[in-house]
Amino acid sequence: MSSVVNQAWLRALPSKVPAGLANPMEMAAFELKSALPDFPVELHEAPALGDGFSLQKAADGTWTLTGGQTGLLYGAWQLILSRLAGDPLPETLSSSPRYALRMINCWDNPDGSVERGYSGRSLFFRNNRLSPDPDRMRELGRLLASVGLNVLCINNVNVHFPGQLLLEDMLPDLAALADLFRPFGVRLMVSIDFSQPMRHGIPTADPLDPAVGAWWRETARRVYAAIPDLAGFLVKADSEGRPGPFTYGRNHAEGANMLAEAVAPFGGVIVWRCFVYNCRQDWRDTSTDRPMAAWQHYAPLDGQFADNVILQVKHGPFDFQVREPLSPLLLGLKKTPMAMELQLAQEYTGHQIDVYTMLPMWQELFEELPEENIMSIAAVSNLGDDANYTGHPLAAVNLFGFGLLAWNPGMNPEAAVRRWSRLTWGFAPAQEDALTRALLSSRRTYEKYTAPLGIGWMITPHEHYGPNPSGYEYDLWGTYHKADRDAVGIDRTGKGTGYLLQYPEELQRKYGDPAACPDLYLLFYHRLPYSFRMRDGRTLIQRIYDDHFEGLEETKALAATLSALPFPEPDRTVIDERMKKQLCNAREWCDIINTFFHRLSGIPDAQGRTIYP
Ligand code: GCU
Repeated sequence: MSSVVNQAWLRALPSKVPAGLANPMEMAAFELKSALPDFPVELHEAPALGDGFSLQKAADGTWTLTGGQTGLLYGAWQLILSRLAGDPLPETLSSSPRYALRMINCWDNPDGSVERGYSGRSLFFRNNRLSPDPDRMRELGRLLASVGLNVLCINNVNVHFPGQLLLEDMLPDLAALADLFRPFGVRLMVSIDFSQPMRHGIPTADPLDPAVGAWWRETARRVYAAIPDLAGFLVKADSEGRPGPFTYGRNHAEGANMLAEAVAPFGGVIVWRCFVYNCRQDWRDTSTDRPMAAWQHYAPLDGQFADNVILQVKHGPFDFQVREPLSPLLLGLKKTPMAMELQLAQEYTGHQIDVYTMLPMWQELFEELPEENIMSIAAVSNLGDDANYTGHPLAAVNLFGFGLLAWNPGMNPEAAVRRWSRLTWGFAPAQEDALTRALLSSRRTYEKYTAPLGIGWMITPHEHYGPNPSGYEYDLWGTYHKADRDAVGIDRTGKGTGYLLQYPEELQRKYGDPAACPDLYLLFYHRLPYSFRMRDGRTLIQRIYDDHFEGLEETKALAATLSALPFPEPDRTVIDERMKKQLCNAREWCDIINTFFHRLSGIPDAQGRTIYP
């Protein structure tokens, strides 16, 4: 029996998608007919438009939608979502996506578990087999297409056995899955194991060894014969224990280019992740500063990568903390195509228990990142086999918003949140306002009650939910705050570790002087005494206390807002259960962080609020 029960923001649509639609144009016609049966629209295919489309209203009130195959599907969704959300349609509209590859990276393991997954088990794998529910795949394809997402990498970047079999015994199943997604304009991608040739009697994975290159070329030929439109391979190499070129004294251009040559004849790309750092650092070693690592590895290689290599860079230099500056690679590499990697999975941001809407944060990233610096965008998936796909019904806004961002990084977060909530629930205007405000401020609220002012990492190790201010302090991950009785933070300016010198001069000036550095980044860049006077006159320690008390109060207000909204079941129950946990989490963070700093500094809260001894 099919497990299709909830279509997230498409729940108002009349029917599920039938099997047998051949291509995105047929899909577009089907979706229009079923969602807007009386809407007078004709479809015209213009292959040169690709993913782009235009919509035109004629004097007699009929509409023409013109686009490439996929463009027609995206245009159809533009029409459908606008109409369902009750938004006005301009009489002419042309649109095309900013980024060609708009990618979702699932971290699903063949045994059905999901690394950093908070929405149930894998949608694709069970018992070491690729055995998805076809109805649910079509529903997922529809959700992705409705917001313009077009590449789906289904397996974890950490490829452990039997993940390699996707290119071997599981290839027919992978091809069948690609067939299911093709009419939605969604192409598959596969995470690969750099050492995979060694499973086949080749004694090395050295990228310059001719037998290794030949194995990958033959593998690519076989894989592309089965899936001609596979987007390519995603690679995590020399990172957190994964194999890579370093073992053989080769650099990452040599590793990536060898793979790129194998997929090039088929139009494939190699998406090569830049999450490379020493994850076995000795905390006593002050000469290594983890956020500097990616730049040190990749800046010297700029210009040496093949044309079909895309370097995929996490948005910040650490690892998806609540607040990190933009990775210097995204600003500094000039001759290498790059993708920015975001994380919808709420690994460090509340596990899809705490409400955390990411759209305002992405908007901030694009304030510093020129759109043209990257040519693609990816996000680690927040999907799982929970009925609502994202565990928390409110976490779906991040998937929806990511699609809109990937299409147009200038999108307006408020408009996106409103559209999503209208499609999902269709509340009355005052209720929609309340929900929109709550969601748009949820990230700041979470930020306030967790680690202060850009310092990050005060989270429970490994699990990454709840506070543990010194959990990572004497560990090997390179994530230290060095709080003592007088001061906290690491000096990352030119006088300290020198991290800041990896940025253009303008940003060095913006962040280098603690008196001018934006508050929210203060402890990322500087080591400061608790008595440091912030621009608003408060001391640093007072700001830390104030933020934590405010974060807890804002969480209580968020709970009140959500409980007053008429969510239908089963959303109501899930939201209420998770909100209870979020309230405990916020209280725990607030009290533990305040007590931690109070015990160290001995400085009381100026407002005399309770800080536990
Ligand atoms: C983080 C995360 C891991 C993941 C890694 C990555 O370290 O905790 O689970 O594998 O990022 O992005 O590769």
